[in-house]
Amino acid sequence: MTASNRIVLSSDHAAIQLRQAIAAHVAAQGWVVVDIGPATPESTPYPKHGEAAARLVASGDCRFGIIFCGTGQGIMMAANKVKGIRCGVCADTFSARMIRQHNDANMLSLGARVVGEGLALDIVDAFLTAEFEGGRHATRVEMIEALEG
Ligand code: RB5
Repeated sequence: MTASNRIVLSSDHAAIQLRQAIAAHVAAQGWVVVDIGPATPESTPYPKHGEAAARLVASGDCRFGIIFCGTGQGIMMAANKVKGIRCGVCADTFSARMIRQHNDANMLSLGARVVGEGLALDIVDAFLTAEFEGGRHATRVEMIEALEG
């Protein structure tokens, strides 16, 4: 098993149901799902779940991460604090495709209180099937990396 087929999923309490639906969806596509929870609905702070998923992507253990909270925003902000992470919140399929093609995003964040399950599944598919285009976009991604110090 290599990192190339491993995908980590993580959420706070606001998004457990959506996370589990996405887990089943991507597993059915052949991804090895590393679902790091939480499993139960007690209130839990999104930064620690964003960080935990981001560390698995940044270390190379997982190729991609998909993270969830109520809006997708807070957990995205936490994940992006980890060096090497490029995570975007998406509520549409165009953005999900573009953050792969132009920004070489390695994580996707979804808001369970923003998008319904059907749209979320389409967003995930758009993200996972798009390829980074490189070229001038690679130069810009390098500029983002340079900001990390
Ligand atoms: C939890 O109530 C909520 O604040 C969280 O899920 C997320 O939306 C934060 O960005």
